[in-house]
Amino acid sequence: MTMAQQMGNQPLIVLSEESQRTSGKDAQSMNVTAGKAVAESVRTTLGPKGMDKMLVDSTGSVVVTNDGVTILDEMDIEHPAANMVVEVAQTQEDEVGDGTTTAVVIAGELLSKAEDLLDQDIHATILAQGYRQAAEEAKNALEEIAIDVDTDDTETLEGVARTAMTGKGAESAKDQLGALVVEAIRSVADEEIDTDNVQVETVVGGSIDESELIEGVVVGKDRVHDNMPPIKEDADIALLDTAIEVPETELDTEVNVTDPNQLQEFLDQEEEQLREMVDSIVAAGADVVLCQKGIDDMAQHYLAEEGILAVRRAKKSDIQALARATGGRVVSNIEDITADDLGFAGTVAERQLDDDDKLFIEDVDDAKSVTLVLRGGTEHVVDEVERAIEDALGVVASTLQDGKVLTGGGAPETALSLSLRDFADSVGGREQLAVEAFADAIDVVPRTLAENAGLDPIDSLVELRSQHDAGNNTVGLDAEESEVGDLEGEAVEPLSVKTQAIESATEAAVMLLRIDDVIAAGDLKGGSGDDDDDDAAPGGPGGGMGGMGGGMGGMGGMGGAM
Ligand SMILES: Nc1ncnc2c1ncn2[C@@H]1O[C@H](COP(=O)(O)OP(=O)(O)O)[C@@H](O)[C@H]1O
Ligand SMILES: [Mg+2]
Repeated sequence: MTMAQQMGNQPLIVLSEESQRTSGKDAQSMNVTAGKAVAESVRTTLGPKGMDKMLVDSTGSVVVTNDGVTILDEMDIEHPAANMVVEVAQTQEDEVGDGTTTAVVIAGELLSKAEDLLDQDIHATILAQGYRQAAEEAKNALEEIAIDVDTDDTETLEGVARTAMTGKGAESAKDQLGALVVEAIRSVADEEIDTDNVQVETVVGGSIDESELIEGVVVGKDRVHDNMPPIKEDADIALLDTAIEVPETELDTEVNVTDPNQLQEFLDQEEEQLREMVDSIVAAGADVVLCQKGIDDMAQHYLAEEGILAVRRAKKSDIQALARATGGRVVSNIEDITADDLGFAGTVAERQLDDDDKLFIEDVDDAKSVTLVLRGGTEHVVDEVERAIEDALGVVASTLQDGKVLTGGGAPETALSLSLRDFADSVGGREQLAVEAFADAIDVVPRTLAENAGLDPIDSLVELRSQHDAGNNTVGLDAEESEVGDLEGEAVEPLSVKTQAIESATEAAVMLLRIDDVIAAGDLKGGSGDDDDDDAAPGGPGGGMGGMGGGMGGMGGMGGAM
């Protein structure tokens, strides 16, 4: 089978037999259906009472999760339009770290409402304009109801962390974990907050509430030589991104050994070079050496003799984290190392973690880089706790950066949809219909939260609206009590989670709606079709998708429709 793959370079588009083209209404409805299918596939996981999904990949490995972006990443979605909706989740994850399901569900609903208007012959351009206007207005409306948070407001920050963990694997220990997350983010906060400076180590065994925060770094290696001390107190630390070895090129030049004396001389020379490297390190005053590359056996022996604790082949990211945590400088040239380059830690000790010996570098002056050690009963449990923690780290960081929060549980969306309906009246024309559709679409959040909590969605929406009309703008869906209630202080989310969700959902929906021609150089189903029988293992992509149930069934249909 050959395909005309360079189609784009031809002055004239001549479609090969393999390529497929869908135009006009068909293209729109295909894209809308694909986007809706993606949203549908994560809908039931939304909120504290949302369900989890079990995802099985082609190698049979299993992930159990409630996390929107993880589900979509694992699903291996191939339809290009569907992928644009998946990108909404990825952007959300990158920008704010939480709200991925919300963003995707909103995107799906924006597409769904748009479909109705397209059917009434409202032009896609008008729709796009209306949606953009509504999104802009939505941001203003959210800003208005947002609450300011001080950076030292621990109670609220912990509330934000707890809310992100509600309904996830970390739920049972969310009070304790919430406190750890806030502490962790505070330790690494500069003008900018990079959540990557909080490293997460997972340990199978023990219970979630035995998780702890290490003010420092855990390096996943043990000391390189048994004769080295396993513990060093008040340690000066050398960080190297170069090997303590004699460079090989120097050896290669002298391979022609003609008599045994020459060989001995050569070996002595090598030993001497290693000795000099170790001497430089000793002269600088290092008690501990963390090396990103290898350490020669002879050098190990010399270091051990000097009572130095050394680790080799540490991860680059660990070395960088250590530089931040200990205040040391990463050295590339061993001869040049001085006392000024060394970092400092109160304790450097080998400890067992998850059946492996690891090096804990702790008690540093100003951590700047910390490690959260998470424990859980099984691998799947810890992995899901880790995802919940990552979300919590993201929202606490966002809150500290923006200083604004909203009461969640569908309250902000209800307030938004009401104020957008008011706003629609001022818009007029056909765009008014688009703004109204947008307002209706936003209701999908409280509606889904109600459904997932086992409440009647219509009754709940009616009650929510009347409460908000009466000025109670912190009333939402109290999943714990299974009723509509005031969630102030119960569910707290950073403003940016909502504004980002609306922004990226709108962008994706608008982009998809403006497409009226899809030209594909081949079958959109890609390689997962059932026609290539030789490498279609039983657990192939098709098999994995089968596990997804309802939503993805629709996706298969999409490929076929091309
Ligand atoms: N304790 C709570 N009570 C009510 N709603 C909550 C609570 N905690 C979280 N929520 C709501 O759950 C929704 C988030 O659900 P989640 O499954 O985490 O999806 P996402 O991937 O969008 O973050 C938000 O609307 C949030 O306000
Ligand atoms: Mg969440």
